[in-house]
Amino acid sequence: MTLRDLIVRKRDGGALSVDEWAFFARGVATGKFPDYQVAALLMAAFLRGLTPAETVALTDAMLKTGRTLKLDHLKVGRVDKHSTGGVGDKVSLVLAPLVAACGVAVPMVSGRGLGHTGGTLDKLESIPGFNTRLSLAEAAKQVERIGCVMIGQSAEIAPADRKLYAMRDVTGTVAAMPLIAASIMSKKLAEGLTGLVLDVKTGIGAFLPSHDEELALAKQMVAIGEHYGCPVVVIMSNMDFPLGRECGNGNEVAESIAALKDGGPADLRELTLRLGAEMLILGGVETEIGAATGRLERALASGAALEKFRELVAAQGGDPSVCDAPERVLAQPVRRQPYRALRDGIVQCVNALVVGRGITALGGGRETMEDVVDHSVGFTLETIPGTRVKRGDVLATILAKDDDGVGVGNAVLHEAIVIGDAPVTLPPLISHRVTAAGVERL
Ligand code: URA
Repeated sequence: MTLRDLIVRKRDGGALSVDEWAFFARGVATGKFPDYQVAALLMAAFLRGLTPAETVALTDAMLKTGRTLKLDHLKVGRVDKHSTGGVGDKVSLVLAPLVAACGVAVPMVSGRGLGHTGGTLDKLESIPGFNTRLSLAEAAKQVERIGCVMIGQSAEIAPADRKLYAMRDVTGTVAAMPLIAASIMSKKLAEGLTGLVLDVKTGIGAFLPSHDEELALAKQMVAIGEHYGCPVVVIMSNMDFPLGRECGNGNEVAESIAALKDGGPADLRELTLRLGAEMLILGGVETEIGAATGRLERALASGAALEKFRELVAAQGGDPSVCDAPERVLAQPVRRQPYRALRDGIVQCVNALVVGRGITALGGGRETMEDVVDHSVGFTLETIPGTRVKRGDVLATILAKDDDGVGVGNAVLHEAIVIGDAPVTLPPLISHRVTAAGVERL
């Protein structure tokens, strides 16, 4: 078997066997294949797709390239949450300590920025000293000790995803349903979970172009979870416009800390509470959404969630005083430039896709695998669709490293924020719940 043969077969629309996907994933994880051949197979898979059986085979093959966290001895449920990718989506930063503070263990393996979407690891690394590269043994010990850990894929855990994720980011091969499903589920199944909550994004800023495809992705991931005996609950949430106000890296950490202090924007809070409530139920500490939400709210109001975040940051080598004075600890942009409305009217759209690409253009994401992320740049949004504005109102602040960045930011916001005259009805933030039992409209 050669990788060239597999590329040719996938290019021509054929299917690969279980053994062939295992050969591919092993070769990727061990670095045996050159990047150009891996990229070629990814592009063939992107264009031709995978059958559901191939998607399971790829997931399994990717999972088996690494080891699995062994946490069965813990007396508590082990539940994680993962999102298919959004702009301004800092939910994981709030949710991991919040849920851990409520008595459910959260062993979280996340990714970096992907395509136009931000990555939890890049955000965490804007906290000076924060180490996302713990060994499996260190990660397990930390979960035993404080109930949560936030790390990335490594040579030990989901190594094939570590490589494929980074390559897909820079080769235009992110937005493929089977590749997303295999990437997410291979990481999550390696965490040794008793339950998993997924946030599948829909809308302009989601990876897949239609709601139907996002729903198919949700069902596929639920089915993969079932196959491994891991119950999966999917919440589908809107990503037409960014979540919260802050979009970037360091500024998203600051907004997450505000949310942990029982503040933060309403949409971030609503989504965090719903996903968290599902996690508490899967983790066995609550049995219904109302009571679970109440427990989460109490953990926010009492400061327990923020204290858990402080513990997490300190445990992973970060500066815990970020919790008290984020603006002093996190890198600040050299330039902060307001972006103003050019006319009176109603904000029709704040395009999440354009804002996400704009963060990369400012230096807050990667164009190539070697790029270093600037944690200080991004946007602070001061408006949402449906808001009536006047000419000259500040709609956003550009966080840039220099004058060129300000120019880029202006062009991005000019495209992203559309002002018109028509009234706007906001889509519901949370639309569906998908489980093995079926699809529920919320
Ligand atoms: N999150 C992942 O981990 N992988 C993807 O492909 C998309 C979102």
